[in-house]
Amino acid sequence: MIAFVFAETDVETEPLRPSPLNPFEITPPPEGALARVRARARALQERAPLLKGIGRTPLIELPPVEGVRLRAKLEGRNPSGSLKDRIVLYLIAAGLERGLIAEPEPKTTLVEGTSGNTGIALALIGAALGFPVRVFMPEDVSLERFKLLRAFGAAVEPTPAELGTDGAIERARAAHDPPHAYWLAQHEDPVNAWAHYDTTAPEILEECPDVAAFVAPTGTTGTLMGVSMRLKAHNPDVEVVAVWPEDKIMGLRRPVGDKKPKICDDRWIDRVIEISDREAKRATRELARRFGLLVGPSSGAAWLAAQRLAREYAGRGRRGASIVVCFPDEGGRYLSTDTFAPHAEAEEEGSPS
Ligand SMILES: Cc1ncc(COP(=O)(O)O)c(C=O)c1O
Repeated sequence: MIAFVFAETDVETEPLRPSPLNPFEITPPPEGALARVRARARALQERAPLLKGIGRTPLIELPPVEGVRLRAKLEGRNPSGSLKDRIVLYLIAAGLERGLIAEPEPKTTLVEGTSGNTGIALALIGAALGFPVRVFMPEDVSLERFKLLRAFGAAVEPTPAELGTDGAIERARAAHDPPHAYWLAQHEDPVNAWAHYDTTAPEILEECPDVAAFVAPTGTTGTLMGVSMRLKAHNPDVEVVAVWPEDKIMGLRRPVGDKKPKICDDRWIDRVIEISDREAKRATRELARRFGLLVGPSSGAAWLAAQRLAREYAGRGRRGASIVVCFPDEGGRYLSTDTFAPHAEAEEEGSPS
């Protein structure tokens, strides 16, 4: 077990209390602890200027739906191509603040179990800061992912496909041995949500203070938790909408039962919209072909969910309202999948549904 406690502080990051309704409760970060993590993150960015490119991603206007405005936050514009740069930076900063990551020598190995974007973000940021990185990944994820991680110098260890991402997470948990190895634990450490509370949400409020709804797909749920806590402090009426995979969408999971991450607290989610993989991929192709936006299938799912919500708002007389939708990553890393295949639509049309 990892205790998410900060060294030399009276403010423990212990927002995780069991409750009969939710396994865990998550609350806004204590300002003192957040300020120290933020200061560490800024210092890391000073050390490796590439990391100054994390955050401040564009919020672009998409065509309105029945008079409801849609704005997309393009998280693929982070240096490693996804929103995970934000959380990896803050999780490393938190490890330093807790005194569990050693510097300058011998450097602690940073460890995570992941099937995708977090591993890529960790490999890039670890390289930029000079930390060794060890990533556990299910053996059946795309070859590019293994190659990309190795290109950044990370050690990548395949885990059995049948155990899925959970198998990779368990190997990472077992490798946790500070100060030699530090497990980032994105599904369990509330600092994941703090990163979005401290960066993503203020960026949204700066550009769109009248935001009526925030729509984001769920993996660890860190994005939704962090953004929701901040937006609802600004305006309790903001609606926070989770996009769940109806079946299987790459990078996403339904946060229920034993798949519920410890940082997920249902109180911060107002409603759920389910999207199928097929619908998500079709919407992702449309984003590329209509707007030149090359993003991953979870963005397609989020866009589709936002359009459904917009239609509902219009029906309820809320024309002119603004919906902000999170586009988590860029599309280049999906080129070897069937997401953008030119024949995908024809095949779909020809196949029984
Ligand atoms: C492609 C993609 N979309 C969305 C998400 C969801 O982000 P979060 O983990 O903050 O819920 C993830 C990460 O898990 C992801 O890899």
